[in-house]
Amino acid sequence: MTKIRAAITGVQGYVPEYVLTNKELEKMVDTTDEWIMERTGIKERHILKGEGLGTSHMAAEAVKGLLAKTNTKPEEIDLIVCATTTPDFVFPATANLVADMVGAKKSFSFDTQAACSGFLYTLATAAQYIETGRYKKVIVIGADKMSSIMDYTDRATCIIFGDGAGAVMLEPTTEENAGLMDFVFQSDGAGWVHLHQKAGGSRRPPTAETVAQRQHFVYQEGQAVFKQAVVKMAEASVEVMKRNQLTAEQVHWLCPHQANKRIVDATVKAMGIGQEKVMMTIEKFGNTTNATLPLNLWDYEKQIKKGDNLILASFGGGFTWGAIYLKWAY
Ligand code: UT7
Repeated sequence: MTKIRAAITGVQGYVPEYVLTNKELEKMVDTTDEWIMERTGIKERHILKGEGLGTSHMAAEAVKGLLAKTNTKPEEIDLIVCATTTPDFVFPATANLVADMVGAKKSFSFDTQAACSGFLYTLATAAQYIETGRYKKVIVIGADKMSSIMDYTDRATCIIFGDGAGAVMLEPTTEENAGLMDFVFQSDGAGWVHLHQKAGGSRRPPTAETVAQRQHFVYQEGQAVFKQAVVKMAEASVEVMKRNQLTAEQVHWLCPHQANKRIVDATVKAMGIGQEKVMMTIEKFGNTTNATLPLNLWDYEKQIKKGDNLILASFGGGFTWGAIYLKWAY
């Protein structure tokens, strides 16, 4: 029997209008444009403004654009999965809201949570529904309104994160040279101490005290995360290349999580690929958590060719990390 693979057949991104520059951050916290550029590679990030607008707003905009671009009617969608760390509500799932907002009346929908590796893990998870032959049109979203959990008095975190959303269409293919080929994933829950949100979950529900103590924001021990990220993202990317006998020359693109340019540089070095093969959008979008990978694909879409070998890689809270190998299908 011919193997069915899940192929990305379209990608669309959305970033909110408002741009928060390093220069503006200089007025908010004790930092400089030079420090931020040198230590992270970020120049600006987009922030979602507007009363009552959550992650679903950006996700729905991305999905609407994706439907238009791929000539898909909302009723044709079988499944929508949204990878997010900043859902509109604790429940119901943001994907449920998005399905309603775009009119995907016949789909089922749910969220996934794996911090910065959310989109990567979810792409492979959603692909299983296609590979089994069960569904034909699955949308995978990566979306986060990081500004909703950002302490704009903490210079170590607020300079990094931004808001955004990206969505891809997954469809079955039987072509040899298209679709998701392989993946290498791992996680280590002991890493939670270095990167988490202290309150608001079931372990420490919200109280006046948790709010006063500023515990509803991202808590990050930057160096501890950095040390693991440079090693693990590189290891996973190299392993997925080895498992598939891919040489550096055969890799056309690296689509890495955009947390810090220096982390990406370490992965590029370990893979032995040229800088021209690396998708980078950190300078203009910052770290948008689940949205970094689809925003990368969206930004580089016109340059990627059918049959190109892509490695998608990430490292994030959990800790979670891994790499996907896929062949571009259009
Ligand atoms: O996507 C989720 C996963 N997250 C990551 O992968 C993030 C990994 N970590 C990082 O990217 C980096 O650790 C950061 C960008 C967060 C921080 O960069 P760093 O080079 O590790 O800086 P540091 O935390 O070691 O701080 C060095 C110095 C400190 O001052 P002292 O103690 O040496 O006097 C900080 O207080 O830089 C200071 N600093 C700043 N200075 C100016 C920290 N933040 C800032 C800032 N502006 N915004």
